[in-house]
Amino acid sequence: TYVVTDPCIKCKYMDCVEVCPVDCFYEGENMLVIHPDECIDCGVCEPECPPEAIIPDTEGDVDVWVERNREYSEIWPNITRKGESPADADKWRDVKNKWDEHFS
Ligand code: SF4
Ligand code: F3S
Repeated sequence: TYVVTDPCIKCKYMDCVEVCPVDCFYEGENMLVIHPDECIDCGVCEPECPPEAIIPDTEGDVDVWVERNREYSEIWPNITRKGESPADADKWRDVKNKWDEHFS
């Protein structure tokens, strides 16, 4: 499965939502997550994300994001259409460790 990671926070460009064939994205206030049991591992969303927030869960160092995608996809509402990104999305695009430094 694929997971959404830190670069999505405060950016939420939602290009990923447009291409997912199974609509397995879920929307929080500051980011999206992927439901791990619904993702069919097709990989088409990965190159669509401008800040490269979407990565395979087999990549090293993503365990915490695997957990967060599973946890929040059970709580947050499903999103099937691209909405409006935050007005200051580009400002946050290159900020690192947004979860740890700004939202925990
Ligand atoms: Fe959707 Fe495919 Fe991305 Fe999984 S890998 S979230 S199925 S587009
Ligand atoms: Fe987030 Fe990238 Fe999708 S910024 S909303 S994972 S296109």
